[in-house]
Amino acid sequence: MAAQTGKAMLAGVIGRPVGHSLSPALHEYWLKKYGIDGAYIPLDVPEGAFNDVLKTLSLLGFRGANVTIPYKEQAFAAVSGMDEMARISGAVNTLVRQENGNFYGKNTDIPGFLENLRTGDVAPEKLRHAAILGAGGAARGIAAGLAMAGCPEITLLNRTREKAEILAQTLMEKGVSAIFHIKDWEARTEILGGIDLLVNTTQLGMLGQMPLEIDLATLPAAAAVCDIVYNPLVTPLLKDAAARGHKTVEGLGMLLHQAVPGFEAWFGVKPEVTGELHDIIAAMIAPC
Ligand code: ATR
Repeated sequence: MAAQTGKAMLAGVIGRPVGHSLSPALHEYWLKKYGIDGAYIPLDVPEGAFNDVLKTLSLLGFRGANVTIPYKEQAFAAVSGMDEMARISGAVNTLVRQENGNFYGKNTDIPGFLENLRTGDVAPEKLRHAAILGAGGAARGIAAGLAMAGCPEITLLNRTREKAEILAQTLMEKGVSAIFHIKDWEARTEILGGIDLLVNTTQLGMLGQMPLEIDLATLPAAAAVCDIVYNPLVTPLLKDAAARGHKTVEGLGMLLHQAVPGFEAWFGVKPEVTGELHDIIAAMIAPC
């Protein structure tokens, strides 16, 4: 085992619970593939212990860590510097240890989402009008990312309309420039006629959750559909969209692509997201 050399470069994922995280398998795959003496460890951090754990990781010489639910906002507050995506999204999902022992914060969920779109043959900079279902943390990052990539118009629909209004307001205050439209959740079918990308950021359609009820009949033929839910890999929304001939983009790709910048910063190699990696992680989600 690489970690037993005593010299292994260390990184991990901080969350609670963290046992379900696919990130260790993903990073261990790359460590092995590139022959790197490193280890990536799931770190189940008790409530209230986040800042102490960061100090400990720094003392132990960890190169950094990913941060997942429920600590992305605490990570945002704890870092000593951050990238533009973290500033705008208010969430840090990647920590990189600096020479002085402090951690720099990145948000790689946003570039991961955009890269996943590109891999699915959807160019974010060519979009004219995207609609986002949901207004939670994921929606905030995705709205920011689409706007910053050049999508000029974004419609937000959320069960709790007020949260969509606050989201748009927050992004505008942070300097994100796009025209934001806020619509009632009940209008999700009728707004489809004028958009070229539909993104589901709610958990509707996830295994064990309620279905997402939406009729895609009026979605323009050239419009693409993306779901950030990746269990099942192909959600009912994506299945329906594909059957109607739309381009579809699976959520798993976002998870794979968001991991790239962290691995590169910690271990010094820019890893590749390959079909083989996709299939290995997909098999962990839905074992045959
Ligand atoms: P994340 O960080 O993944 O975005 P979140 O912040 O908990 O998660 O956001 C979940 C999103 O799914 C919210 O937009 C939520 O709507 P509310 O703001 O009204 O809670 C949405 N959501 C969850 N369950 C839903 C349901 N049954 N119907 C519609 N939207 C739902």
